[in-house]
Amino acid sequence: MRGIILAGGSGTRLYPLTMATSKQLLPVYNKPLIYYPLTTLMLAGIREILIITTPEDQAAFQRLLKDGSQWGVSLSYAVQPHPGGTVQAILIGESFIREEPVALILGDNIFYGEGMPGILKESSGLTSGGLILAYYVQHPERYGVVSFDADEQVIEIEEKPETPRSNWAMTGLFFYAGDVVEVAKQVRPSPRGELEITDVNRHYMRQGRLKLRLLGRGNAWFDTGTHESLLEAANYVAAVERRQGLMIACPEEIAHALGFITGDHLDQLTGAYLKNNYGNYLQRLRATGRR
Ligand code: DAU
Repeated sequence: MRGIILAGGSGTRLYPLTMATSKQLLPVYNKPLIYYPLTTLMLAGIREILIITTPEDQAAFQRLLKDGSQWGVSLSYAVQPHPGGTVQAILIGESFIREEPVALILGDNIFYGEGMPGILKESSGLTSGGLILAYYVQHPERYGVVSFDADEQVIEIEEKPETPRSNWAMTGLFFYAGDVVEVAKQVRPSPRGELEITDVNRHYMRQGRLKLRLLGRGNAWFDTGTHESLLEAANYVAAVERRQGLMIACPEEIAHALGFITGDHLDQLTGAYLKNNYGNYLQRLRATGRR
């Protein structure tokens, strides 16, 4: 399976933070936001990844992430000239997808939890239709809202409804079969003028080809679109990391744990961070042999 990270958008809800830089480059505690969706794809076993950015921010992402070989993955880049909606990730990614199954993650989504690696691994085995993940939230009206029957068959998905039918928010991580480009081409702009990923998912739903995976309460899911939610995510990451002395979404660690890079390679990467806690952490990983 291939992966796409949608990391464009205007980020106006985060102004003035995002007036001179991309939202997905902002810090979440000790790492840039994009590390979190990137490592989510890595944990799914995905190593071919396309990063879609605004034209003006592309160079900064390339400076940060390079071609991915330092972490044993292959990163390529594309631009979204104007933020016309999340479906554009599929349309821009057409030649990258090459009719193969693909995972799309919105660049501001953070997933964490004991069950996540297993769920990701399993989801990346998808070969037909689509798969969405849903998370129980207090304010579903801020999201795409999923309603489903007793067999967890999706009945409806509504984009930011005034009166939500359930508390289950559609997260920004989607798995699709290779036909998704054809589905995406049929989507028309929504009342807010955007090509909504919800409409791709509703297409699969109507065909009875949309699978749903509910994320239990032992998992954490954040999107980081506002000042408050960005701070909440950072506080969460800081609290867990300081309590455990283990990092969330450290690409070097994950690449090593998954066997994408060797221990010697990890040692080389550590050199860039020797003067701070990030480097100390990587050194400790090697010293303890922890994977
Ligand atoms: O985070 C989950 C939610 O993401 C879902 O529950 C919603 O159904 C889905 O529509 C989406 O809602 P948002 O209102 O959060 O989408 P937003 O427009 O904020 O875009 C999400 C991310 O994608 C954001 O980091 C910016 C990026 N983006 C967005 C658009 C519309 C782009 O890169 N290009 C775009 O054109």
